[in-house]
Amino acid sequence: MRAAIRAASRMPYVMNQEPDNMHDIVQDYYGRQLQQTADLKTSACCDIGQIPEWLKPLLARIHPEVLSRYYGCGLVCPPLLEGCRVLDLGCGSGRDVYALAQLVGPTGRVVGVDMTGEQLAVAEKYRALHTDTFGFDNVSFLRGYIESLDELDLEPGSFDVIVSNCVVNLSPDKDAVLKGVYQLLKPGGEFYFSDVYADRRVPDTVRNDPVLYGECLGGALYWNDFQRLAQRQGFVDPRLVTDRPLTITDPDLQPRVGNLRFYSATYRLFKLDRLETACEDYGQAVIYRGSIPNHVDRFVLDKHHDIETGRVFSVCGNTWQMLHDTRFAAHFDFVGDFSRHFGLFEGCGGGLPFDKSSAADAGASCC
Ligand SMILES: C[S@@+](CC[C@H](N)C(=O)[O-])C[C@H]1O[C@@H](n2cnc3c(N)ncnc32)[C@H](O)[C@@H]1O
Repeated sequence: MRAAIRAASRMPYVMNQEPDNMHDIVQDYYGRQLQQTADLKTSACCDIGQIPEWLKPLLARIHPEVLSRYYGCGLVCPPLLEGCRVLDLGCGSGRDVYALAQLVGPTGRVVGVDMTGEQLAVAEKYRALHTDTFGFDNVSFLRGYIESLDELDLEPGSFDVIVSNCVVNLSPDKDAVLKGVYQLLKPGGEFYFSDVYADRRVPDTVRNDPVLYGECLGGALYWNDFQRLAQRQGFVDPRLVTDRPLTITDPDLQPRVGNLRFYSATYRLFKLDRLETACEDYGQAVIYRGSIPNHVDRFVLDKHHDIETGRVFSVCGNTWQMLHDTRFAAHFDFVGDFSRHFGLFEGCGGGLPFDKSSAADAGASCC
């Protein structure tokens, strides 16, 4: 099996779909096959959305070996993290953990979980060095499966934010992952994560190809099935933050996916038990105070809510709760309440949520 995977970019073969076997294949891929970001065969790791200026100095303080084994597909640094407890699912060599450690600061904590020993070894190797560089020690790494978070001795309801970067698609039991996330989040907490999605259900020929699986394509969910899964696990109103189409850069892999289209997307899922399944209009509005560090001019809740500082911004009942019943509340003024209903909020979703083209399609090189 292992030898076959090494030669695998040319020869597709069918793999056994048992969860343990999928874990083995993924651990082999990230522990032994890949040595650095450039070994990936898609544009998944390119942050075409660009790293914001405020994040660059934080990444510059992270050891180059950690950075060289970054296999994420997006940015998982939501605003307002100071003092937060953050969990990173599938933290790999720890790039995001060490970036988040600086954002939560000495009063916060970041825990990284991964199942692959080789990845965690790199993360651990530089823990003391980062403690010295940052001036505080607020990071820990745990070895385990993201489908079994309850086995890691983490306190239920104890995390403000859970992040994950290009990992959930690799899980053979995504329901278990989201169930565990829901249990570990505090009320009002959020799962803010980047992952790969498909524009249709992925056929078995693609799912059972170990390289396509390892490359985060074979296990990708059809986006609408992801929405259903999130809702089933209590995240009633998933919010898309950013998305971009992925390019398969390896000419041997491209023909194997046929007409399937893949997207990297960042979603935020709030743990709020009174969210409604549709955006309902109660005539409410919010005004952003411009008071969140690094977000002085605007606050972007998601792709459809770019809230300019000082402007009265109409919101549905769900958006109201995402701002009023979370760590963001002190940074907004709120207009209205839930006493009067005006029907469905206009422009409330439907259809493929992703943009079909981006700079990536124009042949931008990356990684
Ligand atoms: C694509 S890499 C992303 C790593 C890291 N998030 C980053 O941005 O560099 C996927 C990582 O998820 C881990 N992983 C995949 N499935 C997992 C599972 N079921 N439980 C725990 N870790 C998992 C792999 O070991 C690997 O380190």
